[in-house]
Order: sequence, then C-alpha cells, then structure tokens
Amino acid sequence: MKRAKITIVGAGNVGATCAHWCAAAELGDIVLLDIPATESMPKGKALDLMQSSPIVGFDANIVGTNSYDDTANSDVVVITAGIPRKPGMSRDDLLATNAKIVRAVTEELKRTSPNSVIIVVSNPLDAMVQLCQRTSGFPPNRVMGQAGVLDTARYRTFLAMELGVSVEDVSALLMGGHGDTMVPMPTCTSVGGIPILRLLDEKRLGEIVQRARDGGAEIVGLLKTGSAYYAPAAATAQMVEAIVRDKRRLIPCAAYCDKEYGVGGYYVGVPVVLGHGGVQKVVEIQLDPQEQAAFAKSVDAVKSLVATMDKLLAG
Ligand code: LAC
Repeated sequence: MKRAKITIVGAGNVGATCAHWCAAAELGDIVLLDIPATESMPKGKALDLMQSSPIVGFDANIVGTNSYDDTANSDVVVITAGIPRKPGMSRDDLLATNAKIVRAVTEELKRTSPNSVIIVVSNPLDAMVQLCQRTSGFPPNRVMGQAGVLDTARYRTFLAMELGVSVEDVSALLMGGHGDTMVPMPTCTSVGGIPILRLLDEKRLGEIVQRARDGGAEIVGLLKTGSAYYAPAAATAQMVEAIVRDKRRLIPCAAYCDKEYGVGGYYVGVPVVLGHGGVQKVVEIQLDPQEQAAFAKSVDAVKSLVATMDKLLAG
C-alpha cells in the first residue's frame, strides 16, 4: 500500500513534535515546512528525526523544506504556523497576526494539495479553521481543527490523577470552542463504565473541569516562553492516524456545523466520526438544558471571534 504523504506547516515545537509522533507511529512520509529566519532549520529537524528511525524502528521519508512545491499532493496537511501565546495572553490575542499567516499558508496549500484533508492547529483555533476553510474553498468536511482531543485529554488526565486510576479507563467528552467557554459533558464522562458523578461530587468535578479549561494557560504560565506542545502535537497525530488509517474514531474536533446543533455555519467542537476523507459525520446528541446553555454561550463566543477576525482582515 502506498504510504500517506503528510505535510506539517510550521517546524516549531508543535509542528516538529507532531512530526515526531507521526513518524514514530509510521503514519506516512512527512514533509516539514517552515520559512524561519534560519532557513535550513526544517531540514535539520527532518534529518535529525530521520536518523532516529533505525533506533525507534520506523520507515518514513522525512523532508524539511522552505518550499511549498515539496508538499505537492499531500494527503493530510497539518497547519501549526503562527505565533504562540506568552504568559498573560489569551488565544484570542493572537488573532491579527495568525489570521494573516494562516490565510497565506492556505493559499499555497490550495494550489499544491487541492485534494488534501487539512487539520488546523494554529490559534485562536475556532477562527483559524473557519478562515482556512473559506480560503481553501475545500468542502467543509475536509477542513477541521484540533482542539477537542487535546482539551478532552487534559480533562481525562486530571480525572485519572484525582481518582488514582489509569487514564485508559477514563472516557470523556468536551464540546464547544477551544477557549474559556469550552463545555464539559458530565453525562458523557465515565471511568471504567461508571458515570463520573457516582465517583465525584459536582463541586469537585467542576474544579477539575475548570483546570482542564485553563489547561493551556497553566502550561504557558510554567513555560514562560511559549505554549504547550507535547499534548497538542499528540492530539493532532491521533487525528492524522484516524484519517490515514480510516479508523473512524469517534472523537471531538472543531468541525463545520450548519444545521448540526443549530450552529448555522461555524466551526465548533463537536463529536465526529473521523476517518478517510476527513469528518465523515458530525454526531448529534441530545444535550440537557445546562449543557445546551453552555454550548450556546460557547458558540456565541466563536461567532464573535470570527466577526472580529473579519473586521481585522477587512481593515
Ligand atoms: C493549548 C494551545 C496549544 O491549549 O491552544 O495548549
């Protein structure tokens, strides 16, 4: 079987770490593209990663480049390009700078890989994925954003730490935007099949949800010079795997919702079936009144972020 071609745009911490996870899992051949001040940097990272292959035991061709021509006919593209947060910044503070970068990157990808599936990771995620779809003109199911897998992983990690159990036994779902309004779904959280509210009281669960919401900011505060990358990159690699192996994973991601959940044409975090070709289905579940209200608030935050972006881009 022909290997998948995976392009990762941005060879910074998230991009390079994503290349690492994708290579180690033997998901395909990888092109790592960046246009940094030190032009040869992506080549250096790609070659270094290649040289780990005899030790780790994977077969993959990994190319570092400054040229979009090398990305031609990619099956999957991951966009990590853009600046990360510094302490005290919200993801939304990155809007003006990253919108211009994501738009320019998408113009190139549209030309070189017109049949690709694109996963956007750049922040503020919910606006960047909307911009990428619009700029590419791709069918909305071939463009999606990485957020839900990461946010849910943080929530699952904190739950496992709290209960002193394996993360493998914690199953959960978060919905909504990748920001302060993300929506926990206690009715969709269980540990070893046991509904979470039989193991924790609502107050403690609320504290854990809040820590998951602030999970990105907690890492920014600790690193001081950038934002999280191991978990964001691992989350992205899981999405790449679902697509290239047609795994049909039921996982949350920022997917285009029109009639779905009554969103009306925006990207928001919802459970989807992810496999060959991208989002195969948005899974609609009945939300209880509290979840519905929180989700509506999160969708409003995404809409206002997109409106701000549109003003900035028009000006
Ligand atoms: C985070 C950034 C990557 O949540 O959005 O860590």
